Amino acid sequence: MVTVNEDFTWTGKSILVTGGAGFIGSHLVELLVAAGAEVTVLDTLASGRRDNLVSVAGSITFTQQDIRRIAWNQYLSTHPADVIFHLAANAYVPPSVACPSFDYETNFAATFRLLEALRVMQWPGRLVFASSAAVYGNAVRVPIREEDPTVPISPYGAGKLAAERYLAIYGSLYGLNVASVRFFSAYGPRQRKQVVFDLLSKLNDDRRNLVIHGDGTQVRDFLYVKDAALSAMTVAARASLSGEAYNVGAGREYTIDVLAKSLCEQVGVHPEFRYTGVNRPGDPEKLVVDITKLKSLGYEPQFEFEEGLAAVVEWFQEVTGASWR
Ligand SMILES: NC(=O)c1ccc[n+]([C@@H]2O[C@H](COP(=O)([O-])OP(=O)(O)OC[C@H]3O[C@@H](n4cnc5c(N)ncnc54)[C@H](O)[C@@H]3O)[C@@H](O)[C@H]2O)c1
Repeated sequence: MVTVNEDFTWTGKSILVTGGAGFIGSHLVELLVAAGAEVTVLDTLASGRRDNLVSVAGSITFTQQDIRRIAWNQYLSTHPADVIFHLAANAYVPPSVACPSFDYETNFAATFRLLEALRVMQWPGRLVFASSAAVYGNAVRVPIREEDPTVPISPYGAGKLAAERYLAIYGSLYGLNVASVRFFSAYGPRQRKQVVFDLLSKLNDDRRNLVIHGDGTQVRDFLYVKDAALSAMTVAARASLSGEAYNVGAGREYTIDVLAKSLCEQVGVHPEFRYTGVNRPGDPEKLVVDITKLKSLGYEPQFEFEEGLAAVVEWFQEVTGASWR
């Protein structure tokens, strides 16, 4: 059972979650519903799925709308919200490199238009924006702290940073209650890409050999998706909301080797690890995060690494029919 910011009353609050049918968004929606909130999800289902929300389908309002086209003033005056979690986005770097204008429109311009509407309405609510570790670019040191240089190296990172900066300005100049959460890579059920899903897919295809990029010593912070969602709620409930940004990670370090071995243990297979010897382009050796600032709000990750992996394995088996026993 997840403990949800007991000092802030979510019960009866109207919450809008853009991108709520997505990976992180759907877990956030589940936690909000469990906390007694009235939740509306606004999502195009571009990468999100209705079945991500199956457990709360009868308790939420779902609206299939595009954040690039919505008339926010009109929408929010007919659908008032106490808190907005703005997660809808192109969530990955490669599409932003292939088509920067798509990323700009979805991630930056749509966020700017939302902020403008909130400014004009003099909206009194709270907004948390899903930013990303990509704002840092190539980290100058680890663990990464919020005050470290932000030098994005992709249109995705630049768009997230620009949106963050506008949030900060709209917070200080116009008094909006806003903050950004810089998610580091999250993992968990419903994520159909990234390293945990990739390793399980490989183990499903071949239980005798497991190909690992690089030499397996790369260090990462593995943020369980429900902890990511809980962090966003913690920021909404407890931060001063004057435009600041918070790193969101687990604050724990594991190598890819440890991850791969843990997954093998979980599914009960013992493949030979085959290392490619070279990291994928742009993959740093060590990517870890300092979450002291987030912890100062009283946040503590609630899920152990092994517990999170077990949940992914269970989900993976359910949706793919994989069976290793
Ligand atoms: N997953 C991570 O590790 C991670 C890391 C850093 C930042 N983030 C950020 O967190 C947020 C959620 O990421 P996620 O991993 O859940 O990704 P996701 O792709 O699963 O979720 C994004 C959601 O936004 C929706 N969406 C996309 N374009 C839309 C549009 N124009 N209008 C309305 N809805 C639209 C998608 O359908 C999807 O449901 C994103 O803003 C992402 O950039 C995620």
